[in-house]
Amino acid sequence: MADNDTHPFAAALETWYASHGRDLPWRGTHDPYRIWVSEIILQQTRVAQGYDYFVRFMERFPTVGHLAAATEDDVLRAWQGLGYYTRARNLHAAARAVVAQGGFPADYAGVRALRGVGDYTAAAICSMAYGLPHAVVDGNVYRVLSRYFGLATPIDTTAGRRAFADLAAGLLDRRRPGLYNQAVMDFGALQCLPRAPQCGACPLAHGCEALRTGRVDELPVKARRTQVAERFLAYIYIYVSGDVLLHRRPAGDIWAGLYEPLLVEFDHRPTEPEVLAASPLAPFTPSRGVWRCVAQGVRHVLTHRVLLADFYQLSLPSLEALPEGFVRVPESRRGDYAVPRLVSLLYERLGR
Ligand code: ADE
Repeated sequence: MADNDTHPFAAALETWYASHGRDLPWRGTHDPYRIWVSEIILQQTRVAQGYDYFVRFMERFPTVGHLAAATEDDVLRAWQGLGYYTRARNLHAAARAVVAQGGFPADYAGVRALRGVGDYTAAAICSMAYGLPHAVVDGNVYRVLSRYFGLATPIDTTAGRRAFADLAAGLLDRRRPGLYNQAVMDFGALQCLPRAPQCGACPLAHGCEALRTGRVDELPVKARRTQVAERFLAYIYIYVSGDVLLHRRPAGDIWAGLYEPLLVEFDHRPTEPEVLAASPLAPFTPSRGVWRCVAQGVRHVLTHRVLLADFYQLSLPSLEALPEGFVRVPESRRGDYAVPRLVSLLYERLGR
């Protein structure tokens, strides 16, 4: 429990956490590997979805040595469906670096230097694994602190990031930094919600500046609205007597290393004839096959993008030459090839 030099805000959070905190499979351990994997999963995935992935990932790769020894394809398969695959590639590369340097780094600078680890993740790992006094600052923390302290500095500005980092560092319970950090995460996730926060049943309500001044809905403040760009994709599932053609995406974006059917991109919503006339489709001579539309306008929402995808199937009797970059695999082995979530939606729409 709290002692005299714990900030009353931290003390109240820890009391709340003792009875409301979640029992999660990466808690109750000081193993930096477990904590690291969980934090990478939770960077862009909600706890409810990340939970099962974490459990399976730890079964598949119980130590950093297991992860380092795996192939990138193995790691991407374990990550399949979680999205933001750069996380998996970085995790894998960092596991190899950890093994090469003889073990998991034990200080903040060493942890922060791992690929894919930013300030938040380094603070989470160091506080939970090693008890080091680093406060986490993420969306939950911005929300909880901006509301409780009535801090309206925009969080997407340099001044805002600094103000919140300083405030968070001052509030940290330096004797139990890991406990405090998990308490503030859960408080933001369960109590001080973005919409419809539970102010009526909040143990911090009496000191909450936003509640006192009626600004709960206005905080935290952002200077800019996030730009969400639309992209238009057409996937063509090419089926050749029991086999499908898949293409491995090259390095360069969030789906690098994953497989997908033939993809044609447009800067507008394409019509079916436009897709049929697209040059990447020409080597497959669609006129020799049976063409069908599987689905149109399937929406897939990412942080900074909305993807609008059309799905088609082209069934060919045979194929003389396999264009470069494609593999031909029996449809029954399709599951061996990790695909983006959008492609698994296509598979579902195909009904097989
Ligand atoms: N979000 C990010 N890290 C988390 C953690 N360790 N527990 C719960 N939610 C989180």
